[in-house]
Amino acid sequence: MKIGILTSGGDAPGMNAAIRAVVRTAIYHKIDVYGINRGYAGLLDKDISPLNVYSVADILQKGGTILRTSRSEFFPTEAGQKRAAEVLREYGIEHLIIIGGDGSLSGALALKKLGVSVVGIPGTIDNDFGASDFTIGFDTAVTTAIEAIGKIRDTTFSHNRINVVQVMGRTCGDIALYAGFSVGAEALIIPEIETNLEGICDRLLAGKDRGKLHSIVMLAEGCGSYRDYCKKIEELTQVTTKGTNLGYIQRGGSPSHFDRNLASFMGYKAVEAIVNDNTGNVVVQRKGEYIMVPLEEALETPKAFRKDMYKIAKILSI
Ligand code: F6P
Repeated sequence: MKIGILTSGGDAPGMNAAIRAVVRTAIYHKIDVYGINRGYAGLLDKDISPLNVYSVADILQKGGTILRTSRSEFFPTEAGQKRAAEVLREYGIEHLIIIGGDGSLSGALALKKLGVSVVGIPGTIDNDFGASDFTIGFDTAVTTAIEAIGKIRDTTFSHNRINVVQVMGRTCGDIALYAGFSVGAEALIIPEIETNLEGICDRLLAGKDRGKLHSIVMLAEGCGSYRDYCKKIEELTQVTTKGTNLGYIQRGGSPSHFDRNLASFMGYKAVEAIVNDNTGNVVVQRKGEYIMVPLEEALETPKAFRKDMYKIAKILSI
């Protein structure tokens, strides 16, 4: 049996751990694995080579993805998807494992509809895939953000300022929420909650009146740019307000223990699903259990918002 594996969309720490788990589980089952470089674009370009036990040695702890990744413009078209299915047939690749976010997994569903046997693994720092409690890379991105915010706090405190820290997540506020919760951010601006900037500034000023010397405002990129918020917050509070966009450092680095475990379980389960003829699914984690969910259902599962966490964050960070 031959299986292919690709990583697609934004890379995420832990993708390598998932690739390693797929290759090693396949070796255990005496299955050949082909690595498809640069995601769907590489599949269309036939950038494909066999992976063996040595290919995945010493990658468990590495950030990024050894297969590299891309956001293909041609693959989302009907012609692109048909071509991709043809290439897989040409190489005799009977099953394809796709590691990526919802865009990449929608591509997996398109291939499934063309008769390709696929298994998805949710990998994105955004944690915006509703079917799984967590996606590969999110925990590491939050940990990286927390470390960076600790440094930002030192200087923000020293200058008695406000600092708006912008984090990634597209339309999902999870990185801002979880990092903000963990650093005790004084305010959270996330897409899931309508922003009342006057209210936020009143809270910041009330904190200042009680003797707070500085404040951190967490901003999810889906709500806009930190530059605009800095200007408005400074106008409303009359406190010097600086901003920091954590940018791509959130996407790099060695995966946390949580992401290594998540990715290893998911990679293992993906191959087991192939062995057990249970494809067309995504491996997800729910309440610590790993289960297979049909791609159609997984892609339609709305992302749940941790209202409890938001509420507690507000209570604890006055
Ligand atoms: O989906 C992951 C992500 O890092 C988002 O958080 C961010 O908006 C986007 O990718 C950035 O994409 P690019 O690498 O194309 O700039």
